[in-house]
Amino acid sequence: MRYVEVTGPIRELFRASLGPQAVLETHEECAHYGHDETEDLKHPPSVVVRPRTTEEVAAVMRICTAHDTPVTPIGGRTGLSGGALSICGGVGLALDRMNSIVAIDDRNLQVTVQPGVITQVLQEAVAAKGLYYPPDPSSKGSCTIGGNLAENAGGPRAVKYGVTRDFVLNLEVVLPDGSIIWTGANTLKNSTGYDLTRLIVGSEGTLAVITQAVLRLVPMPKEARLMLVPFASAERACEAVSATFRAGVTPSAMEFMERDAIAWTMRYTDGLPSQLSAEAGAYLLIEVDGDHADALMRDCETILGVMEAHDAGEVLFAEAAAEKDALWRMRRSVPVSVKAHSVYKEEDTVVPRFELPRLLAGVKAIGEQYGFQSVCYGHAGDGNLHVNIVKGDLSDAFWENELPKAIREIFQLTVSLGGTLSGEHGIGLVQRPYMDIAFNETQLALMRSIKNVFDPKGIMNPGKLLP
Ligand code: LAC
Ligand code: ZN
Repeated sequence: MRYVEVTGPIRELFRASLGPQAVLETHEECAHYGHDETEDLKHPPSVVVRPRTTEEVAAVMRICTAHDTPVTPIGGRTGLSGGALSICGGVGLALDRMNSIVAIDDRNLQVTVQPGVITQVLQEAVAAKGLYYPPDPSSKGSCTIGGNLAENAGGPRAVKYGVTRDFVLNLEVVLPDGSIIWTGANTLKNSTGYDLTRLIVGSEGTLAVITQAVLRLVPMPKEARLMLVPFASAERACEAVSATFRAGVTPSAMEFMERDAIAWTMRYTDGLPSQLSAEAGAYLLIEVDGDHADALMRDCETILGVMEAHDAGEVLFAEAAAEKDALWRMRRSVPVSVKAHSVYKEEDTVVPRFELPRLLAGVKAIGEQYGFQSVCYGHAGDGNLHVNIVKGDLSDAFWENELPKAIREIFQLTVSLGGTLSGEHGIGLVQRPYMDIAFNETQLALMRSIKNVFDPKGIMNPGKLLP
């Protein structure tokens, strides 16, 4: 991709529209906005603009359209598919100053937010009113709602409550030509025309810039029980997952971690229950939530029965709030601890839940055939397995030339099991070469046509999502 320098006169237009403080130009500033959490990739924009209002975003887009300048929307830069990397240079459109919670409507259980609000800040603000915003990516302390919307983020609770897309009622977006529209209505039901709202969510900044979102909330559940279940074999752990749902329980989280994921992460987490060791082959972290302690007790008994039938070891119940917190902190630190261990590549495979054991076995077989180690973990209840391929002492030549073939095989397997390439991290930059595995030319042509309607000049996050 050609790197587009934003010239002095165009920068002057940004300064005139947004004020001089909103335009960042130094090498350090552009480098700061030039990476996310995807591997060690660095793609700084030529200039960063930081608008404060929808009108200012519209002004930026008008200038970029008039001068054919690429624009990459940038959120909390915690993404794992490279969606926020400015691979064509151009303008990095940082939405971090648009960070207000506009209104919490507790009569309708809705909240209106700007895109730069940190996910955890939103969760805590609505919790203060007894309300719950369930989507909770591991990076919730630093990711933003705008990024969550762009990538359709998930997290552990998606299994019971749904992913980001399931909580979006309406979006205010700025189109590439600077027009400002709302995509739907602030209603729970809507059968009025094409669903532009659901189209924009997950479009990874390739169609329009999200400037406000109206999100649905639910009442805060009163109680939760959390258990950690060890298994000698990872396959047996995966088999226990679909059996749990068939037994009539929908946990509020059902997470899978292979032994290495636990072992590497324990080192980074204090306050863990003392009985915890990383000796078993794999673990399920299972949470149930609700309002009635006796109902939760019955759910736990059902789950224990399923776990026993799948040869689980001794189940650890986290009793105190501090223990529950520690187990969740441990789970959320898996991605950072894998990253600290070695260079790695993360694949975000997802299959229908019952196929999870076959996916895991297939990934391991491909690893053996190509000679790489993988650490797998993720949202087992959703059939969403994060496959972390560890570089360790593999050669750069293998990493560059052979590994893409292995990844292609992993995705072919995933699709053959009825699954697809990404459950929650998006396609972005790094999964783009594999889109032909999930879609044929007719499907891709339709997506390109949609992109073209929104963005005829191709300035919105070029080089992402579509091959
Ligand atoms: C997680 C992120 C990587 O599940 O999706 O921790
Ligand atoms: Zn995840």
